[in-house]
Amino acid sequence: MSSNVRNLTPEDLQACLALDRASLEGLWTSAQWQAELAEPRRPGMGLWQADTLLAMASGWLVVDELHITLVAVAPEQRRRGLGRQVLKALLEDARQQGARHATLEVAATNAAAVALYHSLGFQDAGLRRGYYRNGDDALIQWLRLPPINDAEPGCG
Ligand SMILES: CC(C)(COP(=O)(O)OP(=O)(O)OC[C@H]1O[C@@H](n2cnc3c(N)ncnc32)[C@H](O)[C@@H]1OP(=O)(O)O)[C@@H](O)C(=O)NCCC(=O)NCCS
Repeated sequence: MSSNVRNLTPEDLQACLALDRASLEGLWTSAQWQAELAEPRRPGMGLWQADTLLAMASGWLVVDELHITLVAVAPEQRRRGLGRQVLKALLEDARQQGARHATLEVAATNAAAVALYHSLGFQDAGLRRGYYRNGDDALIQWLRLPPINDAEPGCG
């Protein structure tokens, strides 16, 4: 069955909560998710198969930066390119809204996520030691987003 990618909206609350629980052990509460989904400067993208949310990515737009806050793929759907697809859609959405850079923090031990971000061109820019509650270090990564050309190139 084919899948489609679209912006997450407040109507997607239950689907986001379910995927958050399944893939991130419930990173955000229902109230936090409601705030994320309602705020226009916090874009989110979801990849759906029929009514099932398989992958999602979200971030905060801060001036011309996209701060990525979450990327998650349903456990049984991993290594099929869905994480890359939904993250690319989020980056493109942010770029269209004026973002020039994207950044994130990722646990240095999260090999899958670190590899996913590297595969999209993110570069390591620093380390926050002991950043996470379990003592893991956080890698800080940045990606430059290509600017939007206001005009199509002419032929003359
Ligand atoms: C990290 C995560 C989002 C990756 O999603 P995914 O759909 O499996 O990733 P993709 O299939 O799009 O993989 C894209 C690239 O990332 C890398 N990658 C993904 N999973 C990997 C793994 N387990 N080991 C090594 N590399 C991996 C590979 O380079 C891969 O490209 P390839 O398949 O062509 O080799 C997924 O594992 C997940 O949801 N993890 C739990 C939540 C999480 O840790 N989120 C990040 C912090 S919020």
